[in-house]
Amino acid sequence: MSERKSSLAKRPSLLVALAIFILSAAGPASAQTEATNANTSRTGKYRLVWFEDPATTATFVWNQLEGSPGVLHYGPRNQDRNKNKYSRKSEVDRVVNFDGMKNCMVTLRNLKPDSWYFMCIGDDFGVSRRFYFRTAPDKPQPFTFICGGDSRNFRDVRQAANLMCRKLGPLFVSFTGDMINHDTAEQWDEWLDDWQLTINDKGRLLPIAPHRGNHEARPESIPNHFGMPEGSYAAFNVGGNLFRYYILNSEIPADGVQGNWLTSDLKKNANGVTHLVAGYHKPMRPHTSGKALGRNSYKWADTFYEAGFDLVMESDSHVMKRTLPMKPFPQGGEDFKAAPNDPKATVYLGEGCWGAPLRRADVAYSWTVGAAAFNGFDWLHVTPKAIFDKTVKVENVASVGEIDPAKPYDDPKGLQLWAPNGDDEVLRIPAD
Ligand SMILES: [Fe+2]
Repeated sequence: MSERKSSLAKRPSLLVALAIFILSAAGPASAQTEATNANTSRTGKYRLVWFEDPATTATFVWNQLEGSPGVLHYGPRNQDRNKNKYSRKSEVDRVVNFDGMKNCMVTLRNLKPDSWYFMCIGDDFGVSRRFYFRTAPDKPQPFTFICGGDSRNFRDVRQAANLMCRKLGPLFVSFTGDMINHDTAEQWDEWLDDWQLTINDKGRLLPIAPHRGNHEARPESIPNHFGMPEGSYAAFNVGGNLFRYYILNSEIPADGVQGNWLTSDLKKNANGVTHLVAGYHKPMRPHTSGKALGRNSYKWADTFYEAGFDLVMESDSHVMKRTLPMKPFPQGGEDFKAAPNDPKATVYLGEGCWGAPLRRADVAYSWTVGAAAFNGFDWLHVTPKAIFDKTVKVENVASVGEIDPAKPYDDPKGLQLWAPNGDDEVLRIPAD
């Protein structure tokens, strides 16, 4: 009995020692977390959006829960949550009351290319957590980005994919539509909460290039939740003339006003660009039998070919696919034909598996490299000589390590990649 008593008596001191050890080991880290992660403001649902020159510009959007819209304090030096130490501040440009949220939008301009920026919001109640993000380079240099879409239904998969983005830490995420299943306040509320999982523990924001899908039934949803221009199409460069990305809207006519804009933008801005890339929602030729052909988006096929687009990313079918480089061939029955040695030919990737119900990949063409049904997205590495693609499976995210920022395209531990039909996991799309 006395032995038992003494052992119990000893236990608290052991626990205290252990607690002291843990606290001293974690002390600086928790102070740091407190300095950057506390949120005494009444703001939430943060998203950083890219749709115009991301070397110098970014649009930050948040939901103001109560009180007047906050003020964004920012600058190239980290001041944690000491808002008054930041070199610049900006009041909101626009407040949009939509879906029960007060979406506050600030477009930051005249930023320095290829630089980190730190920021926090000060409002009537306090200060938000500290965020940071990187601007795009304005000269050719390698970078990574993620592209995928269709996060409509299953929040567990959506959250896994969002977490995977955070672990891979790309320069930006291109989201090719159908964020939500029903275009309602309740579903946007959930989607924007899930998007917070892309923000890491230190507050790094991954910019999103948002596209409209058919489930964004209201034309104003994407502009009102992300600050995108009316029409939800835009284009921007990354790395100067290394890469120009077109956010297209397949839910409005591909020709007409949007088509004219695309043609004239290409005339003005495509000359000398190494990689022309486009993203939109509706695939021209879906790889599942349950979906109609994308007759509207197919109107872009000739434009892409004539301008020499290297890569196009589609969504909507809820299967994953990779094609050979190909050119339009409307008279051949498959709308395209493989053209592996044609410098103007285009590789098409897709088609939207970020949490929407998977469909059977039961359609393949002579130019299909592979098509399969699994949850994932494409992870791309853009370099002056080529774009590399890896298709990432997202469901095992809990056992995947973090990227080494010094080697931003090396697979972290545990990452599972798709090898279409036993083909190479890594697809190389040469600059030509
Ligand atoms: Fe869709």
